[in-house]
Amino acid sequence: MQIGIYPGSFDPVTNGHIDIIKRSAKLVDVLIVAILQNNKKTSLFTMEERIKLIEESCKDIENIQIETFSGLLVDFAKEKNANLIIRGLRALTDFEYEFQMAQMNKHLHNDMETIFLVTDVKYSFLSSSAIKEVASFGGSVCDFVPEIVAEKTLEKYKGE
Ligand code: COA
Repeated sequence: MQIGIYPGSFDPVTNGHIDIIKRSAKLVDVLIVAILQNNKKTSLFTMEERIKLIEESCKDIENIQIETFSGLLVDFAKEKNANLIIRGLRALTDFEYEFQMAQMNKHLHNDMETIFLVTDVKYSFLSSSAIKEVASFGGSVCDFVPEIVAEKTLEKYKGE
């Protein structure tokens, strides 16, 4: 059975992430969407909220599991019997960082393979930070995130 891992911060999940989730779920038997508990980034959404938003946005995908992890990605992958990491490439600027990470993960765990899916051009300029910035000034993010994510992000900034 091929188990793949799509890791990220997902704070919050965007249409760009969902595009990668949908496409990678077709390539593996089970896709684990792995949310990093990242102490280096201050998050807007709690882990529970991020899980819920991904669950709500990916209801129609049958073979995904949403999990959280901290520490090294390869250790988490090993624990889950996964040897395939999936990452999205938005632009050439993503490449250097992704290349380093893939090489490091391979070094840490020789069986670990990384595959890159090219992000749909419609989402190539998207990031979770950009969504948060637009929403923080009351701008509409409906074109970039699922409805539930847009709603919850705006609520956060309205202090609801
Ligand atoms: N569409 C839209 N936006 C996308 C995207 C896509 N397809 N892919 C990535 N992004 C955005 C994210 O929203 C995020 O935006 P933000 O910085 O504004 O929050 C940004 O690109 C970075 O993406 P993300 O997937 O969240 O990556 P990350 O750099 O935070 O996390 C991990 C990457 C989790 C894979 C990595 O940090 C990790 O493995 N950490 C564990 C420690 C480890 O094992 N390190 C060893 C490897 S060196």
